[in-house]
Amino acid sequence: MKVEKAVVPVAGLGTRFLPATKAIPKEMLTIVDRPTIQYIVEEVVSSGIKEVVLVTASGKSAIENHFDYSFELETFLAQKGKLGLLKEVKHISNLIDVVSVRQKEPLGLGHAVMVTEPVVGREPFVVVLGDDLVDAKVPCVYQMLKNVFDKYQESVVAVQKVPLEERHRYGIVEGEEIEEGIYRVDRMIEKPESGTTTSDLAVIGRYIVRPEIYDCLNRTLPGVGGEIQLTDALEVLRKERALYAYEFQGKRFDAGDKLGYLQATVNFALEHHEIGGRFRQYLRDLVAGFER
Ligand code: UTP
Repeated sequence: MKVEKAVVPVAGLGTRFLPATKAIPKEMLTIVDRPTIQYIVEEVVSSGIKEVVLVTASGKSAIENHFDYSFELETFLAQKGKLGLLKEVKHISNLIDVVSVRQKEPLGLGHAVMVTEPVVGREPFVVVLGDDLVDAKVPCVYQMLKNVFDKYQESVVAVQKVPLEERHRYGIVEGEEIEEGIYRVDRMIEKPESGTTTSDLAVIGRYIVRPEIYDCLNRTLPGVGGEIQLTDALEVLRKERALYAYEFQGKRFDAGDKLGYLQATVNFALEHHEIGGRFRQYLRDLVAGFER
């Protein structure tokens, strides 16, 4: 089974980032010189995905526009001879085919995935959260496809180890390590209360799921926070088939959270081809100033 589609849910309200996200989707907030969502789409493109299915809501049209042609802007740049910028702008709209599906109410991540069934159909697909960034030499989605899905043909979640005091913020998996960094999952718990699990493997915003996930979602009742949780449906899928967890190589940032967003900005600024060197020097001077 080949994985060719990526579902990217961007219909959440982004309350952690208010008031910035009152009129601007959090996925459009800029990390150095690109909106968060562009990093996500570039990751899936470089992982060999052929189509992106965005799950949107009202107020999110800026995201769709970002990946569309902009006739006026392109004509203007061409007339002014700004060919470098024109190339950059065209590159974004030529990246990949993007279709969107509306989630009429923010009923949870599981629900956001559920509404894509008519567009995705009966094939395995990737789910990538629109505000979850991974900086890696080999794209995280590609690692999951090559190292786990191609081999086992079962659903996979990307995980990272988190400190014990942070576990209550994540979906946590318990399981047996069958290969280095690959686990057969025995249990998944969404935002566990303290003392309910000893595992520190936290699910981040990358999943590869078999089409049976839709059947599981259709049977999933609202869970934590009154939302239809993808974690709950994955737990059903695990029981009925199998589920693997994969400890990816790379650095992950929750760009939907203020601190995570700043960390991502510093990380990508340090790597930036144009300003990376000068920014590094700036940070060195800043730290030296604090230490004096
Ligand atoms: P978050 O947990 O980050 O939720 O969702 P949120 O509502 O966007 O943000 P906060 O917590 O209020 O600040 C994770 C991902 O799932 C999407 C979000 O857009 C985000 O990419 N999502 C969440 C939906 O598409 N629909 C939903 O109903 C919930």
